[in-house]
Amino acid sequence: MIGQRFSAAAKTYDLHARPQLALAQSVVSMLPICNPGQVLELGSGTGQLTRLIAERFPGTRIDAVDIAEKMVAHSRTMFEGCPQISWMVGDAQTYWGGKRYPLIVSSSALHWTSDLQATFKNIFQCLEPGGTFALGMMLQGTLKELHELRREIAPEKTPQSSLTTYAETKVCLQDAGFSFERMKHGKEQIIYPDAKSFLKAIHEQGVTGGKVSSGNAPLSRTELGRLVADYQETYASDGGVSATYETATFLLTK
Ligand SMILES: C[S@@+](CC[C@H](N)C(=O)[O-])C[C@H]1O[C@@H](n2cnc3c(N)ncnc32)[C@H](O)[C@@H]1O
Repeated sequence: MIGQRFSAAAKTYDLHARPQLALAQSVVSMLPICNPGQVLELGSGTGQLTRLIAERFPGTRIDAVDIAEKMVAHSRTMFEGCPQISWMVGDAQTYWGGKRYPLIVSSSALHWTSDLQATFKNIFQCLEPGGTFALGMMLQGTLKELHELRREIAPEKTPQSSLTTYAETKVCLQDAGFSFERMKHGKEQIIYPDAKSFLKAIHEQGVTGGKVSSGNAPLSRTELGRLVADYQETYASDGGVSATYETATFLLTK
């Protein structure tokens, strides 16, 4: 399900993924200086973080894993001239490549796994003793304007669950066994030209649908029309409309 949604967004994702690029840059800014030689990336998508890792550690081998087959196929084509990157289909929650890595990275992906705690435990197992895990996560509070309006317009169709908070994410990481080296908690307002283009952008990032953004039934045409009109009026800002992205970046060790 998640894989299909992101597969559908493979070709349009980069056009609209400014918040995800900023988070990937934040992950890279926390990395240790020395080249680890081997990196595992989980939820590699179109390769925004992969490219930054390849630039930061020239020649390092990168195993890039994503659950969406079409994302993997798209990245394999886009990075054809980069033989040091292997693109693989896999689930971060259960992935085991038959070896442990000195560095594991992930950005804007793991909040989509069905069990975050199990995913962090699996990553801990995939890491060498003394190894580093650099993580960027979207948190509860992301797209809060949209969620508030949805609750008002169609309260019976609110999503079944939400993203984790900063405190909940830290507890999950601690329980999985990680030690904290550095962490950063941030909020960013992104301005979109208007409410329609905002909704199109998040759809083309693959972030609509799924347990944190769709309810037990889709919005009707009337509800959707009201959502666009109310968003335009309520969240007008700087000549467009604004949307909040709440994120965390962690540098962790085993
Ligand atoms: C928003 S994109 C982020 C991609 C990239 N890391 C970036 O920074 O732009 C999220 C990606 O996570 C992938 N994903 C979601 N759940 C996953 C899982 N359980 N295992 C591996 N990848 C997953 C999706 O298919 C999608 O490509």
